[in-house]
Amino acid sequence: MAYIIPQSLILILAIFSLFTSPSHSADPDPLQDFCIADLKEPISVNGFPCKPPSNVTSDDFFFDGLIKEGDTNTPFKSSITQGNVLAFPGLNTLGISMNRVDLAPGGLNPPHTHPRATESGIVVQGKVLVGLITTANVFYSKNMTAGEMFVAPRGLMHFQLNVGEEKALIFTAFNSHLPGAAWPSLNLFGSNPPVPDDVLTKAFQVDKSVVDLIKSKFGR
Ligand code: GLV
Ligand code: MN
Repeated sequence: MAYIIPQSLILILAIFSLFTSPSHSADPDPLQDFCIADLKEPISVNGFPCKPPSNVTSDDFFFDGLIKEGDTNTPFKSSITQGNVLAFPGLNTLGISMNRVDLAPGGLNPPHTHPRATESGIVVQGKVLVGLITTANVFYSKNMTAGEMFVAPRGLMHFQLNVGEEKALIFTAFNSHLPGAAWPSLNLFGSNPPVPDDVLTKAFQVDKSVVDLIKSKFGR
């Protein structure tokens, strides 16, 4: 007995198959052993072009940029030193990177998100309040000390605040060679060109004087 499949069912199955095809949740897998980035090449598509292997040396696989303590003499009393592909071209296409976070007492790594990576971190020194907020607006946090590890799932807002008397040090790791970071305070109040005041007064339900004050803190 022959069945006739309605056209609408075929359409639904076709649409469904689009969503079940494999997708990448992080950087794509590398197609070669390594691809030391040539950062000077003008064109880059999902990564940088590779340096010719004949020009690759041992130095391309090592990076000492996270050794030095960052300068925490900043408005947030914090410093983020990035060990991403731009600083360490050997990471190109490998889907990983790291940061060093230095926090003076009271220092804050302000709330931010990483559009292209999940972050894990380990507190190496000090006492730190680590927090994250989900898209359901639930706040999770913990006071952490040396040796403890945390995770901030991709795209979720998170921060670290030094709640101890001494300086704090954290190393963070990402499943992207260039995780990117969006800082709501900086993006909304310090962008170039500026976000219109009308948008900010409405979004934050405050007067223009408040918006002007915050903008002035971000040099606008
Ligand atoms: C910490 O949140 C970092 O992005 O390194
Ligand atoms: Mn982060």
